[in-house]
Amino acid sequence: MCGIIGHVGNGNALETLLTGLENLEYRGYDSAGIAIQNGSGIELEKRSGEVTELKNAVDRSVLEGCVGIGHTRWSTHGPPTDANAHPHTDEALDVAVVHNGIIENYAELRAWLKSEGYAFTSETDTEVIPHLIQYYLDSGLEGEAAFRSAIADLEGSYAVTAMIAGEQVLYAARKGSPLVVGVEDEEFFLASDVPAFLEYTDSVVFLEDGDVVVVDESGVEFTDLEGNPISREPETVDWDPEQAGKGTYDHFMLKEIYEQPTSLSQAIEGRIDGSNKRICLESFDPGTFTDVESVQLIACGTSYHAALYGAFTLRQAGIQATAVLANEYSVAAPPVDDDTLVIAVTQSGETADTLNALRKATAEGARTLAVTNVVGSTAARMADDTLFIRAGPEIGVAATKTFSSQVVMLTLLAQRISEDRSGDPTTDLESYLPELARTPSAIETILERSDAGTIAERYADSHAYFFIGRGLGYPVALEGALKFKEITYEHAEGFASGELKHGPLALVTPKTPVFAVFVGEEDEKTLKNAAEAQTRGAPVIAVCPAGHEATEIADEHLEIPDTDPDLAGLLANVQLQLLSYHSAELLDRPIDKPRNLAKSVTVE
Ligand code: M6R
Repeated sequence: MCGIIGHVGNGNALETLLTGLENLEYRGYDSAGIAIQNGSGIELEKRSGEVTELKNAVDRSVLEGCVGIGHTRWSTHGPPTDANAHPHTDEALDVAVVHNGIIENYAELRAWLKSEGYAFTSETDTEVIPHLIQYYLDSGLEGEAAFRSAIADLEGSYAVTAMIAGEQVLYAARKGSPLVVGVEDEEFFLASDVPAFLEYTDSVVFLEDGDVVVVDESGVEFTDLEGNPISREPETVDWDPEQAGKGTYDHFMLKEIYEQPTSLSQAIEGRIDGSNKRICLESFDPGTFTDVESVQLIACGTSYHAALYGAFTLRQAGIQATAVLANEYSVAAPPVDDDTLVIAVTQSGETADTLNALRKATAEGARTLAVTNVVGSTAARMADDTLFIRAGPEIGVAATKTFSSQVVMLTLLAQRISEDRSGDPTTDLESYLPELARTPSAIETILERSDAGTIAERYADSHAYFFIGRGLGYPVALEGALKFKEITYEHAEGFASGELKHGPLALVTPKTPVFAVFVGEEDEKTLKNAAEAQTRGAPVIAVCPAGHEATEIADEHLEIPDTDPDLAGLLANVQLQLLSYHSAELLDRPIDKPRNLAKSVTVE
């Protein structure tokens, strides 16, 4: 949700900032801007639209200098206009600021600053920050002190980077929104996320809430809000820049769908002891989960669907488990005690709703675990323990490979918790482990042979698209529908197949194809539900293995290799990802940047 980039170094900052913004566009893409110190003052260019618009607009002879900041926006306060785009400045262009987060007391600050004579030109909450800094400069404070005083006045969440005309310095602060520092010899970067500068450095400091940094050509000074020095060591991230690029694919989403055999192999690697048929989870010694009486999984969006999948496998393993939407958890969480394990499932590790739920679970005394993709993310730092899904950078706003890796991680965890509680490897592992090891090649088979493109074309003029499934097929149906609506903008809904007859059947017509997911459990019931829709004229597309009895009644089928029931949903989901992708492509949608959305949702 909004991407920030800052650069201090020897070379010209402009191209670095523009590339950084392109790499951060998945965080927001409704307007973009850049400010650079060009020796005589701050030069600014900003406009509504994607980074390409900005790129075409910048005057390279004016925006010249080694120190600069940039921003790509996902609007919260004020529509995506040129005026509301960041950076925001004071009237005289002496201070420029980029911000990600929400300033909750902006209305009071704005009214007060206006009464002091400061003129506002945008509708954003952010604009109070440059005026506040200017107010403190006008009161006689030096740059760093003025920045600190302004930050101390802010309530809400922020990752802020600021510069003051004439100073070859960047000031930055973090509270509740992500901010990282990249360090490479005499070049320094500030950004919302690592891909912004991955092609320049893999040496990264993940800032904590309350950190304030001052960056100039001599280095980075880390302090707390009061100015006391603090120690922050760089970590090396093991993502390579190619992973964060589109390669030969037309879209990140397609690339990430095709990366699933690799990302799943990475998720599994070292976590299965095949000879002893045991699950090995890094720092978790055998018996770690012996005392776990119940599990609550908290997540949003696609991660919530992975959480539902995980809860189902936990319950199958005899463990009391429930998945709760993180944004609902804070309203009415199920009771927790010290035998409750609360698992936050979040690709980015920065989703505000999920972090709030995690905070609540911690406050209630639950043991917490984050299942995330991002090393150094807030969730990873907040939870008692973390399991990384190791999917590599996911840039497409539509989550694909991270869903698969979350599902694998959670099914492994379910087996492991069950093993710890019973003291024995579960009998289920006999079939599950070899099938899990075969999953990457099963996905390769789907990717090579999928008919999803043809099916997408055949049903391209439908009025709505329904997805049904039972058991582990249910979260897959929900995920299939979410992906479809997110990138095609067509009406799509997912239902538990047994629910169809309790209301949604009224929507079924010959123009509403029903995609039925078969995962090998109670398939005969799902088949009956699909037939009920077909009787009312809806075309039925079965997602199932070859030779499955569903292929006899369905109008079409999307084939998945035969596997363990715990993994069949994962394979079916890959077919549904391809279906969404091809349908969106036919409609010429901006697949990687669907309207109104952003990859990392850092507001409630
Ligand atoms: O980073 P998270 O996994 O916490 O994100 C949660 C949702 O915002 C995310 O899964 C969203 O639903 C996806 N864009 C859907 O494709």
